[in-house]
Amino acid sequence: MKSIILVGYMCAGKTTVGKSLAKNMGVDFYDLDWYIEDRFHKRIPDIFAEKGEAGFRDIERRMLHEAAEFENIVLSCGGGTPCFFDNMEYMNQAGITFYLKASINTLITHYRLSHTIRPLLKDKSDDELEVFMRSQLRERSSYYEQAQHIIDVNVLDNYDKIDIIVSQIRKILNRENGKMEN
Ligand code: S3P
Repeated sequence: MKSIILVGYMCAGKTTVGKSLAKNMGVDFYDLDWYIEDRFHKRIPDIFAEKGEAGFRDIERRMLHEAAEFENIVLSCGGGTPCFFDNMEYMNQAGITFYLKASINTLITHYRLSHTIRPLLKDKSDDELEVFMRSQLRERSSYYEQAQHIIDVNVLDNYDKIDIIVSQIRKILNRENGKMEN
């Protein structure tokens, strides 16, 4: 089976959904940021601080190619992964891609609940955060929307709802498998 690749803006729930989906399917879960941190023995904010965003994007691209080589996995990417180089095109040929699409309100709610330090969002006031997210989401949407499937994750306001998203993705995958067998 081709790997399942989840894309979407920061705080859409890619890691949470990815973990749950992988468990449900009985396959391994990889988070691209965690994979980078393991391989480089460094946290993402430290890589940004040492190498700048451009340095991080180079590493991210290389690690995407490494991780996407594994078969039968669920891979959650970073929010910026699809928007650099030919990464989105590459993901579309390497796996089955899903865009977890969330509104600004959902993203901000998830951000407030998250403990992950995100170099692009930290140190922003509430107003700055919203303005930044809105404008970056607008710029990035055309990349995300190249994914093969789009899943609305705005129901993800609590953990019970993850199952709803997981079963939507499984239904799509079953349909795709059916098509391939015919
Ligand atoms: C980024 C998203 C982060 C991480 C890095 C840059 C982005 O991943 O890769 O901080 O540019 O959107 P998450 O989407 O998992 O937060």
